[in-house]
Order: sequence, then structure tokens, then C-alpha cells
Amino acid sequence: MTTADKLNLKKLDAPLGAEINGLDLTKMLSTDTVDAVLQAWYDNQVLVFRDQDLTPQQLVDFTAQLGEPGRPRMPPQTVRDIIPDLPPEIMIVSNVRVNGKPLGLAHDGEMWFHSDMCYAEIPHTATLLHAVDLPSEGGNTMFADMYAAYDKLKLATRDRLESCKALQVHDYKRTERPGVDLDLSKIGNFAHPVFVTHPETGKKALYVNRLMTARIEGFDRQESDALLEELFAVGEDPAIIYEHVWRPGDLVMWDNRCITHARTDFPHEERRLLRRTTLIGTEAPR
Ligand code: OGA
Ligand code: MN
Repeated sequence: MTTADKLNLKKLDAPLGAEINGLDLTKMLSTDTVDAVLQAWYDNQVLVFRDQDLTPQQLVDFTAQLGEPGRPRMPPQTVRDIIPDLPPEIMIVSNVRVNGKPLGLAHDGEMWFHSDMCYAEIPHTATLLHAVDLPSEGGNTMFADMYAAYDKLKLATRDRLESCKALQVHDYKRTERPGVDLDLSKIGNFAHPVFVTHPETGKKALYVNRLMTARIEGFDRQESDALLEELFAVGEDPAIIYEHVWRPGDLVMWDNRCITHARTDFPHEERRLLRRTTLIGTEAPR
């Protein structure tokens, strides 16, 4: 039986991603199955598990079978007050407010392309989102293939930026470029290579994004902005994007080393709530 058979894996009708329908994630997986899931993740960059009825703890338990779950850096205190038994590994991604306080972290509406935690020295490698409440329309998550982006760049641009680094920042915005007068002492920031090599696949990926990349080091502002615009245009080409339309019970897992993601707008008065875990990384992107 091939790996694809065992997982009941189907490539998505999209430039990237695969759907896995053969697994019940409430159950402990065999080592072989865990290896197959990880291999499928390396091969496809985004995995979609449908119809998973998971408690928060079961989501953490599944995550822990794949690696070491991360802990959200700033668990919003309100959510722990409202859901006291929420495992510390879970972040709530939601626009829901209880008594005026957000249950999740600032998660209304549209969000531009980014790579989770690229502003940290050692970003978490995976993010997993499990859909609980969804709006009637929108709130789709778009995934862009950063291997394909690297491959599509002009050779002259690749040569020019080959050993350059870009400053990644966490400016707490959703649809704005990082500010020009950033006070770096107050926000998470780190300079990573513009191009990174994925440690498992050996493939090169573009590692800049519109939401969190402030500038390319070694260029003046104007030149850096022009170069970044060129990189963003390639990195957001619809030809390399899969747009996930969520169904309740979907669990989607992506690889922050070779994928950027964004969210489409949705009616702000409707509830949207997903539970999120991550896998920690062990090395800085290079
Ligand atoms: C995230 C994120 C996108 C979404 O949780 O890191 O970017 O669709 N979420 O909510
Ligand atoms: Mn994100």
C-alpha cells in the first residue's frame, strides 16, 4: 500500500496542497503514519484534513505527534478567563468578543500575506488551524507557494539578492506595510535571508512578505521598496496560490518555511473562530 493510499491522499485541484481523508485524528497514529503525514506535508506544503471533530486537547495531542507544539507568545488573558481549561498550546484565532474583549488576537477581516513568526530568530515551522465557527462567506485562507515564487524570479533579481537579508518585523497590523519609523526596541524583529533553503526538501524559497518584511538590508529605502514590490508581485501571483474555503471540522496545516498565507475579508458581525497550534523550529532559516 502506498503512502497516498494509506492516508487516502488527494492532491488539491490547485498549484499546491493535498487533502487527507483516511485518518481519524482523535486516534494515536502509528510511527509509519506520522512519517507519511510529515512526508506528505513536505511534498505538498499544505495539508487539509476534512471532518475532524477534535477537542482542543485532541488538537494539541495530534500536533504533539508531529513534533513539539509551540506556546502562543502572548496568550490573551481574556480567553484563559473565559475558557479556563484551554490548553496553553492553543491560540484562539477569532473576531469574537466577550464583554467587549476579544477572545482571540485581533482577528477581524482581511489580513495580508505573511509567514508566521518570521520576525523571530527561530520561527515555528508549522501552523495548524482547526475551524470551529465560520462566517457565511469570506474569511478564506490563501496559501502562496514560495518555492514557485523563487523559481519565477528574474535571474538578475535572484543574483542581486542572493546573500541579502531582509528585516522582518511584528508591527501588529493586518493590511499595512510596516511603518517607516519603527521603534525596533518595542517590537519583535529579526533579519533573515531573502531566500532560504528548506532543511527537509533542500529547495529554495522566497522568504519575504508584504505584511511583515520592512526592508532589505544594504539598500536605501527607495531601492529596497522597489525590490520588495517586485518580490511581492511574484510571491502573490494567483498562479501559485491555493485559496482554502473553510468547512467546519477542517484542519489545515501549513509550512511557514515555504508558504505565505493571507486571509480574505468576511462580514465583521459574523462569528469566525478557529483553534490554532504550531510546531516549534530548531534552527534559524538560512
Ligand atoms: C494565523 C493566520 C489566517 C486565518 O492564524 O496565523 O494567519 O485565516 N490565520 O485566520
Ligand atoms: Mn498567520
